[in-house]
Amino acid sequence: MTFFEPTDTAALTQAFPKLPFGLKHHFVGNPLLTLPTLAELVGRLPRDRLEYNSGSAAISQRPETTPTVDLEPEQIVRNIESAGAWMVLKSVEQEPAYRKMIESALMEVARTRGFDSLKAAGFEDIRGFIFVSSAQSTTPFHADADENFFFQIHGDKFFHVYDNRDRSIAPEEALEASAIKHRNLPYEAKFDAKCTTYKLKPGDGVFVPYQWPHWVRTADSYSISLSLTWKSQEVRRRNDIFAVNAMLRGVGMPQNPPGVNPALDAAKVAAFRAASAAVEPLRRNEGMRRAIRRLVKGRDANYYYREAGKPDVKAS
Ligand SMILES: [Fe+2]
Repeated sequence: MTFFEPTDTAALTQAFPKLPFGLKHHFVGNPLLTLPTLAELVGRLPRDRLEYNSGSAAISQRPETTPTVDLEPEQIVRNIESAGAWMVLKSVEQEPAYRKMIESALMEVARTRGFDSLKAAGFEDIRGFIFVSSAQSTTPFHADADENFFFQIHGDKFFHVYDNRDRSIAPEEALEASAIKHRNLPYEAKFDAKCTTYKLKPGDGVFVPYQWPHWVRTADSYSISLSLTWKSQEVRRRNDIFAVNAMLRGVGMPQNPPGVNPALDAAKVAAFRAASAAVEPLRRNEGMRRAIRRLVKGRDANYYYREAGKPDVKAS
């Protein structure tokens, strides 16, 4: 394959996408993933597609107290060896060159799994994220509301993944909050027993199933990582039910998690998608995206606009 090399093909064909597994890849050296190219990309991305803070965040980090870093985004990338920072470039698939690279990689996975298109393989709402972080930086414990191939490009990373299938780490309500409000989850020492650690060097990667909690720390060099995510129909449906449940919970109407009442779930999905379609044209404008996020997710939804030394969201 050009990009992607599962170390265990059975992992891609049997348990996928339910269990994590390690893999090898060929993204190292790709000119789209070097520091100078990424500095240029950061300079032209809209502000809401960048999130950055100090690399000294805790494993169990409350979002509102995440330590900030007093540097402009482009400076962070150009000085990542000394910046003590953590940054993510979001939705890089909106750039044509990155989209081509991402779709080519996922198409390799689709073919290995016996499908002849991304859609047939269940890869919808495909996105790319690039993480640029200084040595000894921590990505706090969190869960993501998508399925994720994570590829290490530069530097070493320790990627800790936790089995939460019995919900003993994060119950359904915490998973709903991580999907809708903020991804971070509280960490407790008793979770250690459920951890699998992947020691990733450039050329290594890991598949992270939907909402499997994880935290990450860079080793003694700066790090560049690429994350390719998608949402299958099943994942999108679950996320939409979470969104409706969160809104109803917000007005004092706690709901069952997805799956308990299939008929009610179907009604929630239909209502949410009709409302989302109605506001979609407004989302082309960054200011409107910001207003919609606040309306749907609450005041803290625009947390990543925080500026150094100003812990509260300004005019979100
Ligand atoms: Fe993550």
